[in-house]
Amino acid sequence: MAKEIVVSGIRPTGFLHLGNYFGAIRNYVRMQEDYDCYFFVADWHSLTTHPDTKLLREHVLRVVSENIAAGLDPDKACFYVQSAVPEIAELYLYLNMLAYKGELEKTATFKDKVRLNPENVNAGLLTYPVLQTADIIIHRAKYVPVGKDQEQHLEMSRNFAQRFNHRYGELFPEPGAFNYGEALVKVPSLDGAGKMSKSENQYATIYLSDDDDLIRKKLMKAKTDAGPETPGSEMPDYISNLFQIMALVSEASTLEQFRADFDAANIRYGDMKKQLAEDMVQFIRPIREKALAIRKDEAYLKKIMDKGAERARESAVKTIAMAREMIGLHYL
Ligand code: TRP
Repeated sequence: MAKEIVVSGIRPTGFLHLGNYFGAIRNYVRMQEDYDCYFFVADWHSLTTHPDTKLLREHVLRVVSENIAAGLDPDKACFYVQSAVPEIAELYLYLNMLAYKGELEKTATFKDKVRLNPENVNAGLLTYPVLQTADIIIHRAKYVPVGKDQEQHLEMSRNFAQRFNHRYGELFPEPGAFNYGEALVKVPSLDGAGKMSKSENQYATIYLSDDDDLIRKKLMKAKTDAGPETPGSEMPDYISNLFQIMALVSEASTLEQFRADFDAANIRYGDMKKQLAEDMVQFIRPIREKALAIRKDEAYLKKIMDKGAERARESAVKTIAMAREMIGLHYL
């Protein structure tokens, strides 16, 4: 039986961090076994905010290297760069005729970007959800593994797909959000506020590219206090965050030991952070080293990116041929 189709896009901005790893990449690695997966680097999307395109090459090659180092397998999933598949742009054009200015202006991510950059409200930014829809339905995908922040975009994708189907005939499934039925893993930030993210306090986020000393430094700086005064005290958020991070990278027995120390009001946060730092170093180091090795091997990168583009286009060309046929763009 044919496997169900999954698409997900990865923005080529910044470095990947622990939040990306546990929130997204780890799911990709699991999904690539069970689904027909298309994962791509969303380089066109990144143009909507006018980045310095001289940096694009480095960002794209790094994000590809880091994802493979973290377990994405280009022999299993189809892994490609969006701009290598021009059929996506053609589908975007058709979908733009079905997307209305009013609904696009109401999109939360659009309004955020307008607020942040009022001098750059371009049409690409407005139609970002249309391009995202093209990304997804070009492979007639059923599932999209994304977090809460993408729910509105995905709902718009369902609307655009449905409008195409109503106007021109059934072609596209309506894509739904995908998760493995567990709550999505959020990795808390080290300063006790929010989750690890690219934009906020850099010291509060662990990157897959951080070297051993930087990882240790960041963890030793994490917010703690003098410790609970009486057994059975309630745990403050910033301490609970450290336990949550420890649960991701340390042995269960290590976690239990510190948890028992906390409950007995007998915990030394310095020791806990030292242990967490070492476990984190052991966790990150092989990924970082593998990513660097891949990044340096441009012949290998070219080979997998070419192969990914070829596979993605095979699927995209079929969809576009059907879309053209159904719209009626065939004259003789
Ligand atoms: N908008 C997504 C993000 O900000 C990236 C993205 C672009 C995407 N196209 C996609 C995600 C298609 C899933 C499917 O992370």
